Amino acid sequence: MYDFSSRVAVVTGAAQGIGRAIAEGFIRNDVKTVVLLDYNGDLVKATAAELDPEGKRALAFKCDVSDKENVRGVFAEIYEKLGRVDILVNNAGINRDAMFHKMTADQFRSVVEVNFFGTVNCASEVILKMREQEFGRIINISSVSAHGSVGQTNYSASKAAVNGFTRSLALESARKNITVNAIEPGFIETDMLRSMPEEIYNAKLKAHPAQKFGSPDQLANAVLFLASDEGAWVNGNIMIVSGAGRVV
Ligand SMILES: NC(=O)c1ccc[n+]([C@@H]2O[C@H](COP(=O)([O-])OP(=O)(O)OC[C@H]3O[C@@H](n4cnc5c(N)ncnc54)[C@H](O)[C@@H]3O)[C@@H](O)[C@H]2O)c1
Repeated sequence: MYDFSSRVAVVTGAAQGIGRAIAEGFIRNDVKTVVLLDYNGDLVKATAAELDPEGKRALAFKCDVSDKENVRGVFAEIYEKLGRVDILVNNAGINRDAMFHKMTADQFRSVVEVNFFGTVNCASEVILKMREQEFGRIINISSVSAHGSVGQTNYSASKAAVNGFTRSLALESARKNITVNAIEPGFIETDMLRSMPEEIYNAKLKAHPAQKFGSPDQLANAVLFLASDEGAWVNGNIMIVSGAGRVV
């Protein structure tokens, strides 16, 4: 159990999957407030109501992280309502897989816009205030695919960019008591994974050293550690959370 009772956390892409599990983890660990952002406005509101039926700890906003103006407006509202953001988890992500020779420019660009620029957009709304308050935790959800993956030139490039951004921002922010880390999940059982063709899913499962995939909760536990006071000295790290799958 961590003590997040004085912390305000924001989790992007929190309507379902890994982001939902992270928001749930914060609530389980008595967070003061967790703000769930997602581009699916109805689902993120329903998720927040399910995780926090009394409406005391969770707030939800529709937000497209790839839209800088939208992100700016939503964070302005968060600061107006809550006064601070202590923890930012950049989790929103998409994949639009295809071999590069068949990939459209739009397929490439949309993935980079959400996965990389979405991370940049949200970080840029909190970084100044985190420096002023001399406390912050930024956790970016990358992927083991950052190191190369067939059919994922767009996704892989977007996540490799997240890794570089993470390391550099950590160097810039360490003096201000702000940590910036990334997590590279291996395969985690969510809709994103289930969108894979069945034969590829089965082949990946067979190839996994543990013969199983991870759960969103298992990934969330690593995020909670990085967000906690106990994780203070882990900074500028790219942490693989994959049950030994595709360790690179
Ligand atoms: N599931 C895996 O195996 C796996 C592996 C490695 C990395 N990841 C990463 O983990 C993160 C979460 O993935 P997941 O498996 O839970 O996926 P998911 O598809 O189940 O959930 C992603 C969430 O992000 C939201 N989203 C998408 N675009 C958005 C946007 N522009 N603005 C705001 N919200 C947006 C979706 O509505 C959805 O609720 C992603 O960054 C993904 O790349 C997942």
